[in-house]
Amino acid sequence: MRIAMIGSGYVGLVSGACFADFGHEVVCVDLDETKIEKLRQGVIPIYEPGLDQLVADNVAAKRLSFTTDLAEAVVGAEVVFIAVGTPSRRGDGYADLSYVYSAAASIAKAISGFTVVVTKSTVPVGTGDEVERIIRETNPKADVAVVSNPEFLREGAAIEDFKRPDRIVVGADEERARAVMSRVYRPLYLNQSPLVFTNRRTAETIKYAANAFLAMKITFINEMADFCEKAGADVQDVARGIGLDKRIGSKFLNAGPGYGGSCFPKDTMALVKTAQDLGTPVRLIETAVAVNDQRKRAMGRKVITLCGGNVRGKTIAVLGLTFKPNTDDMREAPSIAVVQALVDAGARVRAYDPQGMKAAAHLLPPIDYTDSAYEASEGADCMVIVTEWNEFRSLDFKRLKKSMKTPALVDLRNIYKRTEIESQGFAYESIGRR
Ligand SMILES: NC(=O)c1ccc[n+]([C@@H]2O[C@H](COP(=O)([O-])OP(=O)(O)OC[C@H]3O[C@@H](n4cnc5c(N)ncnc54)[C@H](O)[C@@H]3O)[C@@H](O)[C@H]2O)c1
Repeated sequence: MRIAMIGSGYVGLVSGACFADFGHEVVCVDLDETKIEKLRQGVIPIYEPGLDQLVADNVAAKRLSFTTDLAEAVVGAEVVFIAVGTPSRRGDGYADLSYVYSAAASIAKAISGFTVVVTKSTVPVGTGDEVERIIRETNPKADVAVVSNPEFLREGAAIEDFKRPDRIVVGADEERARAVMSRVYRPLYLNQSPLVFTNRRTAETIKYAANAFLAMKITFINEMADFCEKAGADVQDVARGIGLDKRIGSKFLNAGPGYGGSCFPKDTMALVKTAQDLGTPVRLIETAVAVNDQRKRAMGRKVITLCGGNVRGKTIAVLGLTFKPNTDDMREAPSIAVVQALVDAGARVRAYDPQGMKAAAHLLPPIDYTDSAYEASEGADCMVIVTEWNEFRSLDFKRLKKSMKTPALVDLRNIYKRTEIESQGFAYESIGRR
């Protein structure tokens, strides 16, 4: 099948490369000329494990190509995916749909023959109706069906998630569109991935409900962590104790510095706004958003407390900046609030992240960037693990103790045990395990 993928970011590029790997002929489109030029030269503009090889293989097989010319990609495509960004709108927290609508208008002008236009971007309920209206208004002759197919992949494990999804959700109001979508996902369907067909508005809602539920689950265990600290309980044992209950499940029960990333913060906020407009406020989610916002900066205070209540003039080593490991994505990363809180309190920050420092430089206040955890630790009064990259899981504490001014560790991901760190002469603070 011929597929056009509009938007070649984290979702568009992974989806496009995976569809090509299924045997479809895919053209990935982006407005960003530099991004497309890089892709044409075989340079992957983001960090996602395995993506470079997957792209190279499918380009070599002539199933995957890149262009800035949307019309050229859309003409002759049976299916056109919209995978552009839907960030939070500045000032009011609604999803900014301008990229989606602009893509829809451009697609409309180029459509030829029956075409299924699929919104893969995360969009509020009813957006599909507006996309359809824009296409029909721009090109009244277009023979089109507009479908919602939200994406559930996780950055850092995106290819595996795309190729072995827990489910594929397709919201289509027309049988002929359902038939086309079944062909698009046939390789996965054969692989036993459940294909959930529903109407368009329901599919749009499923995506927000999934993200909101997961964000609440994280926020729940984070609040339990604070409770455990006061109550003398251990949040990790609590998480295990409840997670073994199949009704609860063990995933997304790792207490930490608060959720961040390119999806949960903006999607929970957008759902809150849509629900308010519909007159059905989602109070649990409103509360999760507020609790999470406060939590990130509170993590900075945790560091300050371990440093005796004052970090003015002190040096803090920060390990891990991206919102989670195995990505270079810094969007809404907890490190932003943590670093800002430390800088505001007068600390000097020396940071290290395996992939995120380039993006971080645009989002963080001026700090020092280093080439390793050990370099970051030089002369530090305290070290903070903000993101649990694998290379931070077996640090050499003898070496760190020699290079740090004061041996102190704040472990915001609970990757170490208190006894093992304290026995090396370090002061240690973690989450929910006093
Ligand atoms: N990142 C994730 O993990 C993830 C997971 C599931 C769903 N989503 C959703 O997928 C969507 C895309 O997210 P992303 O992280 O890939 O965003 P991104 O910012 O990485 O990529 C979006 C790309 O679209 C391009 N673009 C914008 N307008 C365009 C146009 N008119 N024509 C061509 N290209 C255009 C941009 O230049 C950019 O490269 C969002 O709605 C997001 O919520 C993201």
